[in-house]
Amino acid sequence: MPKAVVMEEQPGRPGAVYFPLKIIDVPRTNPEDDQVVVKMLCAALNRRDMFARQRLYPGAAGNIPILADGVGVVVQCGSSVSEKQWLGKRVILTPARGWSDDLNGPEGAYAILGGTKYLPDGCCQEFMTIPITEVEECPFFLSDEEAAAVPVAALTAWRATIIKAAIKPGDQVLITGIGGGVAIFCLQLAVAYGARVYVTSGKEQKLSRAKQLGATGGVNYKDPEWTEQLLEMLPADRPFFDSVIDSAGGEIVRESLKLLRFGGIISSYGMTLGPKTTFPMQAVMKGIEFKGSMMGSRKEFTEVIQFIGKHRIQPVVDSVYSMDDINSVNNAFDVMRAGTQFGKLVIRIATASPNL
Ligand SMILES: NC(=O)c1ccc[n+]([C@@H]2O[C@H](COP(=O)([O-])OP(=O)(O)OC[C@H]3O[C@@H](n4cnc5c(N)ncnc54)[C@H](OP(=O)(O)O)[C@@H]3O)[C@@H](O)[C@H]2O)c1
Repeated sequence: MPKAVVMEEQPGRPGAVYFPLKIIDVPRTNPEDDQVVVKMLCAALNRRDMFARQRLYPGAAGNIPILADGVGVVVQCGSSVSEKQWLGKRVILTPARGWSDDLNGPEGAYAILGGTKYLPDGCCQEFMTIPITEVEECPFFLSDEEAAAVPVAALTAWRATIIKAAIKPGDQVLITGIGGGVAIFCLQLAVAYGARVYVTSGKEQKLSRAKQLGATGGVNYKDPEWTEQLLEMLPADRPFFDSVIDSAGGEIVRESLKLLRFGGIISSYGMTLGPKTTFPMQAVMKGIEFKGSMMGSRKEFTEVIQFIGKHRIQPVVDSVYSMDDINSVNNAFDVMRAGTQFGKLVIRIATASPNL
């Protein structure tokens, strides 16, 4: 029987509990007319998967395959799906349902794959049966691990950077916490767009890695003078940033006040430091726009994969673990908990074999 990694729900307060993981058997289901069966090759972690284990994520539930990011090979097609077009194709799975193309937000009930009761399916399993509309052909130049790094992080980065911050070539953009999976995609997309990108991180070596990916400069956010240091790096004729793309929260609005031009944008896709921030009157006077950004639509998913293909963007994978061994999957979570990664933490599920 095919295997899946799931959480085992346990009593405990949100944040105080940490659901253990286990491997279970799940039956392989035949596809309906418009569905395909995907043999999963790799899956990847996001911060939400850690929040789910801590019961800090809405709808977190046990016995449902974990993880929202996945890549695999189509091994079976429903009767209305063209086998010629899809059988044997490597595909990247869409990570969510309920949002087609509305620029403002989901048209219906929005749900993300992996470990919740709202969409009881996830990518850390050997086979997934899903509608053909929920896959995109994988760009040929991506390894399985790189492809698994794409879905949530690239989609979130696309909306936060290109749609919400609406960056333009030549813009000066700050991306905070560059070690994060989403932040690195924000950097790669913004550099490919022709922006001048600066970053922050809590670790010096992550700043160096970001420069290798095209960042112009970077500072350590643990230094109390980090905003002043950043301003010193800007050219005299353009002494402010056009936008800040942030997932830390905390005092980001107060800090950005010093950094942004009048009418500058803070595009916020997360609040890792705690679920609220303050918006002082000085930000009102400076015309700062604070824009929340949540993942993205099905249409934007196609757009970002096409952009990755066109610009040959190589996703950054920190390290790879194995689904065969639950200790290995736990190790991936331990790295995320320690925050030492630069890029995505990927789980290898299977290797593509000629006999699918
Ligand atoms: N809105 C959405 O749809 C969406 C989608 C995905 C993720 N998110 C949210 O975005 C955040 C990041 O997610 P992820 O998956 O990219 O997580 P991740 O890979 O675990 O990265 C988290 C990053 O946060 C940074 N960080 C920690 N403390 C910081 C501080 N004081 N100032 C600035 N940065 C700090 C760290 O950067 P350094 O290591 O460089 O210090 C770390 O790499 C999470 O809050 C997550 O819930 C939201």
